[in-house]
Amino acid sequence: MKNFISINECSAEELRELLDESAELKKLYKGGGRDVCLAGKVLAMLFEKPSLRTRISFHVAMTDLGGSAIYVKPEDIGGIGKREPVKDMARVLSRYVDGIMARTFEHSTVVELAEFATVPVINALTDWSHPCQAMADVLTIKEHLGRLEGVKVAYVGDGNNVARSLAFACAKLGMKLVVASPKGYELDAETIETAERIAAGSVEQVNEPKRAVSEADIIYTDTWVSMGQESEKKKRIKVFKGFQVDAKLVKLAGSSVKVMHCLPAYRGLEISDEVVESKNSVVFDQSENRLHFQRALLKKLMS
Ligand code: CP
Ligand code: NVA
Repeated sequence: MKNFISINECSAEELRELLDESAELKKLYKGGGRDVCLAGKVLAMLFEKPSLRTRISFHVAMTDLGGSAIYVKPEDIGGIGKREPVKDMARVLSRYVDGIMARTFEHSTVVELAEFATVPVINALTDWSHPCQAMADVLTIKEHLGRLEGVKVAYVGDGNNVARSLAFACAKLGMKLVVASPKGYELDAETIETAERIAAGSVEQVNEPKRAVSEADIIYTDTWVSMGQESEKKKRIKVFKGFQVDAKLVKLAGSSVKVMHCLPAYRGLEISDEVVESKNSVVFDQSENRLHFQRALLKKLMS
């Protein structure tokens, strides 16, 4: 494993190893221990979009492992692929740093960085996928339910980057995912086909939230308006009416269901404040697990 670009390119065994390592490092760090396997190593972090969780958790993970991180905004370097080609950036950065992580609009930017870099490249979210989030999510599910195999996840909302990576993670790890999206906002057919092809689990697409959440162990949602879609906000709020994860919908799944959201959450739109603050919500455990998963990922790729 040289890079971490998309979950569908990893084997189930690699994913399970990463989850085990995440749990081990989590225990170590919670107990006051340290593993400085990346002493002296440097990660370059390129961001075309805003971030709270990803930026801080990667920086902390690098520091925890004895290394350091450099945060790069597009304006600092004249834009990604604008002042110079992405392939040149990849080769220049590879001469300075030991790893590159990037959050970009186009998925192809991260793919091109990986193609030309001689150091590991990590996808920190693109318009197409968010694999680090999905892995922190499955770690969270495993902690709360004690298993992954056979777990039913109902994703209610936009068939976006977060939904796609979750679909691949569920398919690889033997979970059952049902995605409920309005017509025209479903996961694309190619993603469903890929998920079905790699499946130890199953991925189903429906258009009714109620149908998706029935007997679900997990209800998951994400924003209706992803970064870069701001101009569609008005339209999307209309289209997604009826897809809010509120107390009524959660009740249909039963009292022990866990509610997940990658955050940031837009309360009153895709999720109600009541649900975010309820005992069913594990959203902050998910956020925390970004750090624990990424420590394991950085250790695997860079040490
Ligand atoms: N969930 C997530 O990736 O959050 P940020 O956009 O704040 O990094
Ligand atoms: N789908 C959201 C996820 C944010 C972490 C977005 O791309 O903006």
